[in-house]
Amino acid sequence: MIRLKSKDDILRIRKAGRLVAEVLAALREKARPGVETIELDRLAHSMIVRAGAVPSFLGYGNPPYPAAICTSIDDEVVHGIPGHRRLVEGSLLSVDVGACLDGFHADAARTFAIGKVSPAAEQLIRVTEESFWKGFAAAITGNRIGDVSNAVQAHAESFGYGVVRQLTGHGVGYQLHEDPDVPNFGSRGRGPRIEHGLVIAVEPMINAGGADVEILDDEWTIVTRDGSPSSHFEHTLAVTEDGPVVLTVE
Ligand code: MF3
Ligand code: CO
Repeated sequence: MIRLKSKDDILRIRKAGRLVAEVLAALREKARPGVETIELDRLAHSMIVRAGAVPSFLGYGNPPYPAAICTSIDDEVVHGIPGHRRLVEGSLLSVDVGACLDGFHADAARTFAIGKVSPAAEQLIRVTEESFWKGFAAAITGNRIGDVSNAVQAHAESFGYGVVRQLTGHGVGYQLHEDPDVPNFGSRGRGPRIEHGLVIAVEPMINAGGADVEILDDEWTIVTRDGSPSSHFEHTLAVTEDGPVVLTVE
């Protein structure tokens, strides 16, 4: 069941979203060669708690997710668990952050280049972000979720990239994951109707190679099956009378 949000709810999700954006900005500065991913998690965790919020991911699911953020490197698509692995020059780091402030959740993710990366990696990051904005532009009243999905898919596939099928974007706000699912692939005109008050996280997960993924023995980390690098870009957005609005910005 889709629970549409009031204007006041959207303002509250916006507050959580501002915090998520501030955390991502701080992590972007800290994500340098030699840094351990657990150090990024500690920074994010302390910023979230200091703001009076709760990390949305910590304890989520089964087995309970053990950290405040996800840190996914190179062929890791999403849900990488922070640890003592050190970042190295030339790699891609996807960081996913969720925070719950006064009972409202916001969720966003970014892929950072660590030091200098290949032109191919830069393009993958850029096209993943562009794919998000194609989906964003389709998130208007009267459209359907399939219009968002199709816009994301068409852009990513026009570069020959693999669009991950097994994970999707989602409704967000009262809980971290709500209806509807927002796939990154689909058909125009299909799926739930988009209306004012819909709040969703749109999150393309795009592989340089094939679309297939698998899960590691830690039961969280998702990796590409062919070992190709992957990129992730996510914002929480609200559909309003004036069109879509990003909520996870400073
Ligand atoms: N943005 C991701 C998602 O919506 C983050 C979830 S991490 C989890 O799936 F630990 F909470 F699952
Ligand atoms: Co999400």
